[in-house]
Amino acid sequence: MRVGKTTIEQTPVARRQQCSEPQCGACYDLNERLYDCSRCGGLLEITGPAVAIGSAATLRRSWRSRRESLATRDGSGVWRFRELLPFPEGAPVISLGEGNTPLYEARRCANYCRLDILTLKHQGCNPTGSFKDTGMTTAITQAVILGARTALCASTGNTAASLAAYAARGNLQCAILIPQGQVSHAKLAQSLDYGAQVVELEGNFDDCMRLARALAEDESIYLVNSLNPFRIEGQKTVAAELLEQCDWRVPDHVIVPGGNLGNSSALGKGFTELFNLGLIGRLPKLSVIQAEGAGPFARLFAKHDVTRFKSGPIADDLLLPVAEPHTLASAIRIGAPVSWKKSLRVVSLSGGWIISVSEQEIADAKAIIGREGIGCEPASAATVAGIKKLVAEGRIKQHEQVVAVLTGHLLKDSDYTINYHRQALFLDDRSTDNISERRCLTTTFSNSPVRVPASRDAILKQLERNT
Ligand code: F0G
Repeated sequence: MRVGKTTIEQTPVARRQQCSEPQCGACYDLNERLYDCSRCGGLLEITGPAVAIGSAATLRRSWRSRRESLATRDGSGVWRFRELLPFPEGAPVISLGEGNTPLYEARRCANYCRLDILTLKHQGCNPTGSFKDTGMTTAITQAVILGARTALCASTGNTAASLAAYAARGNLQCAILIPQGQVSHAKLAQSLDYGAQVVELEGNFDDCMRLARALAEDESIYLVNSLNPFRIEGQKTVAAELLEQCDWRVPDHVIVPGGNLGNSSALGKGFTELFNLGLIGRLPKLSVIQAEGAGPFARLFAKHDVTRFKSGPIADDLLLPVAEPHTLASAIRIGAPVSWKKSLRVVSLSGGWIISVSEQEIADAKAIIGREGIGCEPASAATVAGIKKLVAEGRIKQHEQVVAVLTGHLLKDSDYTINYHRQALFLDDRSTDNISERRCLTTTFSNSPVRVPASRDAILKQLERNT
């Protein structure tokens, strides 16, 4: 609980699940297995005072010193921030050593976006290759506490891979609903290898999500999509880790890709809690970037003055879902994001933006991130594409400190990457009167493999050509 800028008051732990709709605010015990408010249907969030351990300086020191410890909990980039988490001291933590991901300075990307400096927080360096692990460790720990038998999710691939791994570690059965033919090979391979029961559905992610919510009414099933507030609790710790890496100097902007909008909600919650605890003196502007063909949230932002949504009620029909979302960035091919109200509140509170970028912009930004020696999956590259656009529009200034959160590893979607470099990245272009035609993207930064005869001379000649 906040008592001034640097002191955290000693308070008993009294956290609870609470409806995130301000006009409702119904409270529930932490151990009630719920995904939305029984009174009004709103999403739940964890509220209540943080565990107190003294001053902000003590807290920072203790979080940092845990990195030296050999204990599993301390080694996790989520659980070392455990004062922020709603779990008792002896919780049966299921961890794969998630978090503690690198923050890279990226000069090529900065030049590309016309910024002085740009840093990339690479959440693709998590154990299963995406940011989902930071929330899955807390969601599966809660599943074990509740004695759940089966954990379930709907997924575009990364949540599935992450759940499959953590469920295996927690000895839980695991079921996954994915849209048939729309999940990358690497993500599907992970889920299969970790022993999940993978159910491919005829439909898109939004259909899977709807069915997952219906299935979760069964008592034996625990739903771990990002509407689960315990997922959000783990994911919010990324805010603390990022600020620690910035030596607690708050960046001006933090940019994330947006799909189901759990990640932006979690980061916003994290920054707000750190502010309320006196660990930071202001909030970074949090902006969300969507793909044009799957951008209902960006459309909402373009149409409305969202500053009025910081705290008041938000009408259910404000967001118009996209019936057939399309983008080659399959991770964010989502037309009816579940957590849009939570995300809208934190983005507007921070003063950030919600915009969309084209397939071409995503593809080129991804290639630039690759040239840094860093790389990411297509959805993550929407961040750099979005930053370039926000700088061009004058919303981000050249000298400002900007962090892009890369959400998934380069190897998550190697088909996309190879097709780009082989100049064969096709998409269904629906721009003209709904008549769909296949269009090849321009591959400005492509780097195709070359074939030469198997001789020393031929190889040398080829290498000379490129110097
Ligand atoms: N980036 C990647 C790589 C993702 O996998 C996702 C979401 C997002 C961004 C968007 O994050 O949904 O919190 O706004 N993937 C989910 C999945 C939907 O099932 O793996 P969000």
